[in-house]
Amino acid sequence: MLNVALPKGRLGEKVYRMLERAGYGCEDLLKDTRKLVFTDETSGVSYFWVKPSDVTVYVEHGVADIGVAGKDIIEESGADVYELLDLNIGRCRMCVASVNGFREDIARPLRVATKFPRVAERYFSARNRDIEVIKLYGSIELAPILGLSDVIVDIVETGTTLKENNMGVISEIFPISARLIANKARYKFKRQEIAACVQRLSKEL
Ligand code: PRP
Repeated sequence: MLNVALPKGRLGEKVYRMLERAGYGCEDLLKDTRKLVFTDETSGVSYFWVKPSDVTVYVEHGVADIGVAGKDIIEESGADVYELLDLNIGRCRMCVASVNGFREDIARPLRVATKFPRVAERYFSARNRDIEVIKLYGSIELAPILGLSDVIVDIVETGTTLKENNMGVISEIFPISARLIANKARYKFKRQEIAACVQRLSKEL
């Protein structure tokens, strides 16, 4: 049995459709919206719906053998897992952005509002830039508009949120897409099953 952590929501549904096409179908998975665990003996797979930012936790602890998480979440979590496959969906970019016309004062630490403090710290420390991280949980774009921060480190998908708020990208940190990840010990233990899954999924890309 392969234990798979799926991110709840639209991305998770897309991922499940890929897995279904690859031969890992599980009846009722998309029908019953409150149920969290689904097992299909025939396909040999057990799915758990988890909060997207928790997928790395379930996989790192080995409760799930494999899972699907965005590169943003993998980078922010610092989880010690294998990244097996780029699923080529959920594409967006991790960026530094601010209000148009922003001028940086290099004499003081840069105030960075973000949901991704670890990503922000790593990016700016590699550039020897002192920052003050302001951790937020949503609507990050508000921070520089209201003067809470100088810049944001956040996800840009279509760019609409930035555009509609008179903001723009200053630099791109890394491209994001959904990745198939695996627990390191489970990968050794279930090597054949996991390799077969990777191979079958690759054909669906
Ligand atoms: C994300 C992200 C941006 C927006 C970018 O927010 O934090 O705010 O999407 O998308 P766009 O470039 O297509 O406009 P999300 O919708 O997840 O909500 P949040 O503000 O609560 O984090």
